[in-house]
Amino acid sequence: MKIINVVGARPNFMKIAPLMAEYKKHNAIQPLLVHTGQHYDEKMSDFFFRQLGIPQPDINLEIGSGSHAVQTAEIMKAFEPVCLEHKPDVVLVVGDVNSTIACGLVAVKLGIKLVHVEAGLRSGDRSMPEEINRILTDSISSLLFCTEQSGVDNLLAEGISEDKIFLVGNVMIDTLLKNRAEAEKSNILNRLNLNSDGFTVLTLHRPANVDDKETFIQILDALEVIQVDMPIVFPVHPRTRNNLSSSFLGRRMKQLPNLCLIDPLGYLDFLKLMSCASLVLTDSGGIQEETTVLKIPCITLRENTERPVTVEIGSNQIVGTDTEKIIEAYKLAVSGNWHESQIPPLWDGKAAQRIVKIMLEIFSS
Ligand code: UD1
Repeated sequence: MKIINVVGARPNFMKIAPLMAEYKKHNAIQPLLVHTGQHYDEKMSDFFFRQLGIPQPDINLEIGSGSHAVQTAEIMKAFEPVCLEHKPDVVLVVGDVNSTIACGLVAVKLGIKLVHVEAGLRSGDRSMPEEINRILTDSISSLLFCTEQSGVDNLLAEGISEDKIFLVGNVMIDTLLKNRAEAEKSNILNRLNLNSDGFTVLTLHRPANVDDKETFIQILDALEVIQVDMPIVFPVHPRTRNNLSSSFLGRRMKQLPNLCLIDPLGYLDFLKLMSCASLVLTDSGGIQEETTVLKIPCITLRENTERPVTVEIGSNQIVGTDTEKIIEAYKLAVSGNWHESQIPPLWDGKAAQRIVKIMLEIFSS
């Protein structure tokens, strides 16, 4: 079975790593890895291949940045000849980025079976580009692998047939559990002069937060108050960096003495940083899941989540972007009265194993 595996943007790399490792145990599978080049900075891409032991991509489409339409179209144009040349039996896509839908569309139009890993997640917010990518990718996939029960329920409610849907756990958590011991060795706390008195980790990159000045100011007002009490470490995503460099908000942020802006970190350093933090403030999807497994309070700076299990039983709380609400949640987290949390079912490090077993059973029969 020839499987083309697609990666494009940073969160895809942690998701594909355990699958690439699992394929090696099965002679029946011939994997190819295609990198669309959606993320191309060393710190957004190469770092992760090296640290996670992902084989070098067989093919790099080198698409780079662009508007949504341009990026999606360029990926499609470049991916179609790859499929025509290599004639895969299956194309496997992960997550919800533009590379996911672009390659998915190409595959199904060529009659190639499409597999979606991390299927069924829904925020209910169609203004998020990722939500559109999720809905469309799921609707054309032959096999849909879900991380949590809400994903299964959403797909059934959208009329997708039950025999295509499998609850398998979370490949991103496979990677976290596999690398946790190695991450412990990271000296990132020394490098950033952080001590055990507590610190907050911040990540921000969603267009709704960083492209909208009003919203960004609300968040910044909260950060200004929090950093007086506790240092904040902020690895800055390129999108956010671009926005900050051209605005007065960037200057204001740089003036806050306890807000430390740093370059994006590699996987192991970031995992160590999160696992030692008092709390995490984020608008990322994956970090809501990672903090749940690490049992670190996570304050999500969005109005919704496509990962409700992280709130229902995990350590996440959806707080939004209102200044007072962020400060209130921060106070609760540092008071030690954050809600008790548990790890969701099947987030046990074996998701990739389950996925490969099911693909072999279904596609070889
Ligand atoms: C993308 C995903 C988002 C994911 C995020 C993780 C989509 C629609 N969005 O958002 O779901 O959470 O990746 O990081 O696919 N840039 C660089 N260097 C890079 C990559 C990007 O400088 O290596 C800059 C460019 O200015 C680019 C901007 O960041 O225009 C945004 O990059 P893009 O891939 O379009 O979306 P992300 O915001 O990274």
